[in-house]
Amino acid sequence: MLKAFDFVIFGGAGDLALRKLIPGLYRAYCNDELPEGTRIFGTCRRQEAVAEYQDKVRAAAEQHLRKGEFVAETWDRFAKMIHPLFLDISSRDEHWDKMAEILKSGNDNRVFYLSTPPSVFGVCCKHISESDLISPTTRVVVEKPLGYDAASADAINTEIGEYFDEKSIYRIDHYLGKEAVQNLLTLRFANGIFEHLWDAKTIDHVQISLCETVGLEGRASFYDDAGAMRDMVQNHLLQLLCLVAMESPNKLTADSIRSEKIKVLESLRALQGDAVKWHTVRGQYAAGEMDGKAVPGYLDELGKDSNTETFVAIRAHIDNWRWSKVPFYLRTGKRLKERFAEIVIQYKDVSHEVYPESAGGVTPNRLVIRLQPEESIQMVLMSKNLEKHETELTPVVLNLNLAEKYKHFVSDAYKRLMLDAAAGDPSLFIHRAEVDAAWGWVDPIIEAWQRPENKPMAYPAGSWGPEASEELLSGDGRSWFNMD
Ligand code: BG6
Repeated sequence: MLKAFDFVIFGGAGDLALRKLIPGLYRAYCNDELPEGTRIFGTCRRQEAVAEYQDKVRAAAEQHLRKGEFVAETWDRFAKMIHPLFLDISSRDEHWDKMAEILKSGNDNRVFYLSTPPSVFGVCCKHISESDLISPTTRVVVEKPLGYDAASADAINTEIGEYFDEKSIYRIDHYLGKEAVQNLLTLRFANGIFEHLWDAKTIDHVQISLCETVGLEGRASFYDDAGAMRDMVQNHLLQLLCLVAMESPNKLTADSIRSEKIKVLESLRALQGDAVKWHTVRGQYAAGEMDGKAVPGYLDELGKDSNTETFVAIRAHIDNWRWSKVPFYLRTGKRLKERFAEIVIQYKDVSHEVYPESAGGVTPNRLVIRLQPEESIQMVLMSKNLEKHETELTPVVLNLNLAEKYKHFVSDAYKRLMLDAAAGDPSLFIHRAEVDAAWGWVDPIIEAWQRPENKPMAYPAGSWGPEASEELLSGDGRSWFNMD
């Protein structure tokens, strides 16, 4: 049973806190998942922000919760749990003492959520430690991106590690909190059919697409430093790849799952030098049209010149017996035609075609795990078209729409992960070795992208990315599965 906890959000008035964290905690409250006595603290750098805090979080919740979720009376009761604190993270002054006094009189079960730039992670942990706020039931949650490359990630991890031991450090990747992502493990390891049909003998290739329609969303300076590779591939995409490709853990414990994921990351075939040009595509959106409206290009939105990519497609290989010669096509991008996130497992063709050509041919089976916009699992199978007298084959879809099956369930990745951190369950958080291994694969690609021939290719906003992304697959006799 989850014990009452104190949840401190550093960067309490920031975008993430307002858009995701506090609304997520509100959902937990509505669902009776916040034990009596739980307190939420949001730190603010400006004194005025403290006075405005309650209004601000309320307005943001009204805006970001789904229709019907925000109920004024419920919010008013929930809001009593929220306490703004005036605090400058980097100066260990009397405000830290005050916070320490408040926390020491509260719950020993304590979570510090660092919703701040990674540059202040170290100093924040130092001040938490100097304020004597670390006990065996204290955890620190750190947001991605963790670093800029392997060396900076290592430096950040070492800094945090001076004050918190590895088992108390919760590196968050909100994709792991998505129900459909967790369901992937259930699908793989609780269904005999998939356990037996999950390797190079049966699978032709895998596609993982995280396509977005949004652009910079007011995060220009962060995004331009990061780009799609650091923002989405190093973490979300590689984590999904791990869950698709990993071996069965011997137990469902954090250690077992993480050690299987690390093996996958370590088996990724390195891409460096010339290989990068052949196996990756970088793009940057130019002006285009979306939903009938003109949309500016990345450089116009940014207001300066830049070589940062907003789109990445990669052909990856995992060098182990299970995935030998099975390509994993990864793709992510902003300002694409549709928003959707999906994993497609494309099975091999039948070994012997018994049907005549006139039957229309056999489309290979496909398992589609959709994470967004709706959570569903689809299996594309061949069937006889019953409306025709002559034998005609047609692909049909078995569709398990989880949103329809669980109508009252509101899936919220951040809520799930915050409650796991409060309960001390690190299974869905990332181990330091995973971060290192992911950067180890990503760094040489980014390095090769610095060559002039690897400049990002322009693609119109509202398209599916640069032509070269289609060619990456068509050259292999394959094509991307899109929403339309
Ligand atoms: C974040 C990235 O981690 O994930 C954003 O920083 C991106 O750039 C977001 O938009 C996508 O998350 P989701 O859950 O909306 O797919």
